[in-house]
Amino acid sequence: MSDLPALIEADQRTLARFMNQYSFALKEIATRIDILKLDFESTHEYSPIEHVVQRLKSPQSIIRKAHERGCTRDLTAIREKIRDIAGIRISCSFVSDIYRVAGMLMQQEGIEVIEYKDYIEEPKPSGYRSLHMIIEIPVHLSDRVERVYVEVQIRTIAMDFWASLEHKIYYKYHKEVPQRLKDELHETATDIERLDRKMERIHKEMRELKIAEED
Ligand code: GTP
Ligand code: MG
Repeated sequence: MSDLPALIEADQRTLARFMNQYSFALKEIATRIDILKLDFESTHEYSPIEHVVQRLKSPQSIIRKAHERGCTRDLTAIREKIRDIAGIRISCSFVSDIYRVAGMLMQQEGIEVIEYKDYIEEPKPSGYRSLHMIIEIPVHLSDRVERVYVEVQIRTIAMDFWASLEHKIYYKYHKEVPQRLKDELHETATDIERLDRKMERIHKEMRELKIAEED
């Protein structure tokens, strides 16, 4: 991180404070998600959230992305143009849980949804499926409140399985991937979609059986 001020137009301290805001935002959103998970578990005896991972973009990747986007190097421009410096990914059990979790987050005080992209309704050409949101969350600092962007990705475990393997397969292959392999990967995404639908149906039927039994 030592040579960064030369690349980003800010002094070392300002840059550290800038990066800190994103790590605080991650703490804030991670806590909110954890509370949702715990409260949901205790009231419904069921968890819609399987697991949560978070990552902070490294200053090197921020610079790379800023350069690719033709973004100027001042922090104000970087803040506006690169909205995924802080990222959190939530893996859910079933597709319906994705929308349930997204809904619970969206209606929380202080959270503003800046961008909402539903790649489940409309998958990417690769076959990628996931719900993406850019949210703005308040971070209470010692002398002020900053609103910080966080990218939230919500998907099922099966979608996550597909996305991480697809990424692994492509990673560091800098040439054009043969169409045949792209088609095959797309096919596996369709298989995953079928699997998700089937799991959801079984889950629903089981729940109805349990309710009938309790009556
Ligand atoms: P970025 O410049 O990457 O932020 O693009 P964008 O602003 O159009 O964002 P988008 O919501 O399309 O996707 C951002 C993130 O979603 C990526 O960084 C990946 O984590 C994930 N993603 C998007 N498309 C794919 C895909 O085809 N395969 C996999 N494995 N992940 C994807
Ligand atoms: Mg993005």
